[in-house]
Amino acid sequence: MKALVTGGAGFIGSNFVRLTLAERPDVEMTVLDALTYAGNEASLPDDDRVTLVKGDIAEPELVQDLVAEHDLVVHFAAESHNDNSLDNPWPFIQTNIIGTYQLLEAVRRHGKKLHHISTDEVYGDLELDDPAKFTAETPYNPSSPYSSSKAASDLLVRAWVRSFKIEATISNCSNNYGPAQHVEKFIPRQITNVLDGIRPKLYGKGENVRDWIHVDDHNRAVWTIIDKGVSGETYLIGADGEMDNKSVIEMILEQMGQAPDAYDHVSDRPGHDMRYAIDSSKLREELGWEPMYKDFAAGLAATIAWYRDNEPWWRAKKLETEMKYERLGR
Ligand code: NAD
Ligand code: DAU
Repeated sequence: MKALVTGGAGFIGSNFVRLTLAERPDVEMTVLDALTYAGNEASLPDDDRVTLVKGDIAEPELVQDLVAEHDLVVHFAAESHNDNSLDNPWPFIQTNIIGTYQLLEAVRRHGKKLHHISTDEVYGDLELDDPAKFTAETPYNPSSPYSSSKAASDLLVRAWVRSFKIEATISNCSNNYGPAQHVEKFIPRQITNVLDGIRPKLYGKGENVRDWIHVDDHNRAVWTIIDKGVSGETYLIGADGEMDNKSVIEMILEQMGQAPDAYDHVSDRPGHDMRYAIDSSKLREELGWEPMYKDFAAGLAATIAWYRDNEPWWRAKKLETEMKYERLGR
């Protein structure tokens, strides 16, 4: 099988490529990635079964040609960071909406199968004391330019399935952690801060809850949906990993041998979603998926070890990232 993996030089996409090489001997992959500030060629393994094409998913001729040559499109490429979307929404509209549109048109024309990767943030947020979790029936209610652009892309996929009968599935996953995540994101930012002797930065009071899942659990779920999912269906991916941000920072500090209160409170993110929580029973019961990483502390320790061992991978991005946060006051 030949798979076109968009955004395969990013965090989740590059882990998908590694997992696929290890577990799917029948799959060859072309990574289509614009290598934006978030993409990193060094995240990709050097292997005969992986080819990198540097290019933009919003460029129609390139996308048409590549989709025609593949059996399956696994669509990870996106502008992915909420703080950046609040600073400058335009690249989110261009990549997440226009880019997804161009892929859909190519998939429609060439009759290929698509799996669209999305986020739980399309559902908005939950109150801290609300027993509810997101399901595929929860109404869309996105808060940020990032999450609204992802919501728009999901709706385009649904419309192309219904009106043009393309074969496509959608997954909405919660917060991923693991190796090779950009240092702008919460967990890698704090780990690399501690390694650099900088105090971790907690937005607001740190009561906000995220539902953490290891990136390999996400990517195994993606393969489960590609193998067994029903076209037109949406599957929520989550591993029951709810934790507030303050507790995560304290756990990072403890695991790195620091005092648990050795962090700074900084100004809050505008419109900051309070809580995400995924009900993944549809994926578990209908398709038989189960997470393998059930111990967040152990997964976090392995992630800390990865950043300790791979400084050259993140060093080049760290200074520019912290300069951006300084400008944003966070
Ligand atoms: P990332 O920012 O680490 O990687 C995105 C990749 O897309 C980069 O390699 C970048 O170069 C590439 N890219 C950006 N614009 C492009 C364009 N116009 N053309 C081609 N390539 C382009 O993101 P990530 O965290 O790996 O997220 C991947 C996908 O998973 C996104 O669709 C995101 O919405 C979704 N998602 C992420 C999480 C999470 O916790 N990180 C959770 C749920 C869903
Ligand atoms: O829920 C899935 C989403 O998870 C994905 O769709 C996004 O692509 C991904 O970036 C992530 O979004 P978040 O905004 O939840 O992740 P982020 O890592 O930016 O922040 C996680 C939480 O930590 C959030 O409540 C904000 C807070 N935070 C973040 C940073 C960078 C801090 O307290 N301090 C920080 O320095």
